[in-house]
Amino acid sequence: VNPSCRPSHSPTPGPMLTKPSLSPELYSDTCRSTSSMQGFSELARERSKTVTSFYNQSAIDISAEKASVRLTLATLLYSGKSPDGHHILSSAKYLHKELPVRIAHRIKGFRSLPFIIGCNPTILQVHELYIRAYHMLSDFPQIEDQDVEARFCKLVQQLLDDHKDVVTMLAQGFKECRKHMTDEAVLRSFLDSTLCSRLGIRMLATHHLALHEDNPDFVGIICRRLSPKKIIEKWVDFARRLCEHQYGNSPRVRINGHVAARFPFIPLPLDYILPELLKNAMRATMESHLNTPYNVPDVIITIANNDIDFVIRISDRGGGIPHNIVDKVMDYHFSTAEESAQDPRMSSLFDNITNSGNQSNPMHGFGFGLPTSRAYAEYLGGSLSIQSMQGIGTDVYLRLRHIDGKGESFRV
Ligand SMILES: Nc1ncnc2c1ncn2[C@@H]1O[C@H](COP(=O)(O)OP(=O)(O)O)[C@@H](O)[C@H]1O
Ligand SMILES: [Mg+2]
Repeated sequence: VNPSCRPSHSPTPGPMLTKPSLSPELYSDTCRSTSSMQGFSELARERSKTVTSFYNQSAIDISAEKASVRLTLATLLYSGKSPDGHHILSSAKYLHKELPVRIAHRIKGFRSLPFIIGCNPTILQVHELYIRAYHMLSDFPQIEDQDVEARFCKLVQQLLDDHKDVVTMLAQGFKECRKHMTDEAVLRSFLDSTLCSRLGIRMLATHHLALHEDNPDFVGIICRRLSPKKIIEKWVDFARRLCEHQYGNSPRVRINGHVAARFPFIPLPLDYILPELLKNAMRATMESHLNTPYNVPDVIITIANNDIDFVIRISDRGGGIPHNIVDKVMDYHFSTAEESAQDPRMSSLFDNITNSGNQSNPMHGFGFGLPTSRAYAEYLGGSLSIQSMQGIGTDVYLRLRHIDGKGESFRV
């Protein structure tokens, strides 16, 4: 057997599975030429061992049948602090029981993907990460005292780290095999549910870890007095720096409306959504003013707060989203990044970036910004909607429900 065909180049071999060994063979023809009958059957045996470990997992099947227990944030917020640390133990017990169920549901999702998609090496790698996480969590002993709880926290932290690139990996993997995806709705529903479930898991996990910290403004990951203006300003600074690096200038941002509002909320989802929306608004502003980059219109952000929800509107004067693509911008992988790279006025800017060795343009990604932000907003009982005024600019409305508002609170 040609050694280059063996699946030994695994970057992250897991305890459960070697790096999915069926993938390189299915995705390249290089092995064919070496297939002496013996080598071939050896490969086939090895492959079937790996394949088996993907579906012959009765524990996962059983967990996948169980219902997930979603908590309201009010429950997390008011479950209180007990001096003896009792709340930490019960939080750990809840996680220990809940995480394997949620992960098993996700594994079921990977298994339901069309075969050719599920075989993509990058998607298999994520699938494998979930199988590993499932076993590491369900093999963990009962959490009865603080020592075990401390070890559980280490495990949770390790899993958070191991899974930190999952969104990029999924974006990359599905991009590679998108041509085999005949039903767009299948992709959307897989990504919506996988990404939202991941957000929920990460919120619960980080919340638990944060319960150990002593910050008077926070209960776990819930900020008691979150200021929408402050968090917007933080991400405006971030986006403007990226924008200046890319285009040599950036639009100014004015914030108006309920700028003094403060209420309990979790920064985590805003930390994802706000930079995506701000980068989009700034990119559109700069690219619609390439002839006058030092004189660009401001981006205007309005905050509205009420007893049910709060709304953040981001208005740019970046020319709007053209009629022919306005229905597509919420599709996963839809991006006009390549078109703008072809604009001769842009190419000098892009050259700067590639010369500095930076492959990706930091102002846009895989066309995941809008669809992921909308999925997160809806998961949190809110919405993300876009009004394009073609020829002028775009208004994006991010609406999120209060944790302890009058309306029904969402569950994580
Ligand atoms: N504020 C905006 N003004 C004009 N076009 C926009 C705006 N926001 C998003 N778009 C369009 O929607 C596309 C998808 O946006 P997004 O999902 O964030 O992906 P990406 O930024 O990686 O391209 C962008 O490529 C752009 O064409
Ligand atoms: Mg974007």
